[in-house]
Amino acid sequence: MTMTEDLMYQDEIRQSVRQVYSTIPTGGGEAVTRRSYTDDELAELPAGAVAWALGVGNPIPHAGLRPGETVLDIGSGAGIDTILAARRVGPTGRAIGLDMLEEMCERARTHAQEAGVDGWTEFHRGEMEAIPLPEASVDVVISNGVINLSARKSRALAEIFRVLRPGGRMCVVDLTVDEELPPSLLTSPAAWAGCVSGALAERVFVTKLHNVGFTQVEVGHHTPFGLDAAALYPLFSPELIDQMRRLLPADRHDRVATSVLVTATRPA
Ligand SMILES: C[S@@+](CC[C@H](N)C(=O)[O-])C[C@H]1O[C@@H](n2cnc3c(N)ncnc32)[C@H](O)[C@@H]1O
Repeated sequence: MTMTEDLMYQDEIRQSVRQVYSTIPTGGGEAVTRRSYTDDELAELPAGAVAWALGVGNPIPHAGLRPGETVLDIGSGAGIDTILAARRVGPTGRAIGLDMLEEMCERARTHAQEAGVDGWTEFHRGEMEAIPLPEASVDVVISNGVINLSARKSRALAEIFRVLRPGGRMCVVDLTVDEELPPSLLTSPAAWAGCVSGALAERVFVTKLHNVGFTQVEVGHHTPFGLDAAALYPLFSPELIDQMRRLLPADRHDRVATSVLVTATRPA
């Protein structure tokens, strides 16, 4: 558990995250996507999906998606990874995006249509803590910068486990922290929405995955996420970046958090 879950009520976190994501005017655009996506991947995407990118990495090359598979993208935003996944599972498969905001789902549907993958791609409004899908209905769960936003992470991970078929796999990118952030950042709604304040320590993330039943849990592709990276996202105002610069020791400015790739399997 992060300290934040002691400092803020779950509903306060949920409302802050909702408020921030429903009011941002756009995503991080190419400044963000260039950090994690290849030119070939970017060429597969409509401009709007790139403009609205808000992830902290790229799970797609590691997900091993095969034609015919059903893939679920948790916190799909404007659809960037769902569309890339849809191209890999193809029309014999199914790509499902889940986001708590209807406006994100609307954007994603438009982008999927522009990408020509809408025939086998769907977007549902819903929360990762109560995934509106039946048990054992998904082959692969992907996600990008989302699990940290949950105020009920064990519940979200248990839901991912539930919807995966036995033998199914999870491949998500998220932020983790090595050391706790100062309380004034942990209680900042903007720093929460920016994926920083809700980030788990890596060992806590791994423990939670084991606790809900996952096996073959692996964490890799560690990439520092510092103030320069944060400044690329509309989620971080110049004031918030300044606050973080003042509150964090200088040697942490280039590693406020770490972007990691987490893979795990629901045992067959
Ligand atoms: C950092 S953005 C990442 C969006 C997308 N994965 C990408 O890479 O651009 C987080 C997304 O998760 C959604 N989200 C936040 N909390 C959620 C929850 N509890 N359940 C479902 N979606 C949630 C937000 O609405 C937002 O679209």
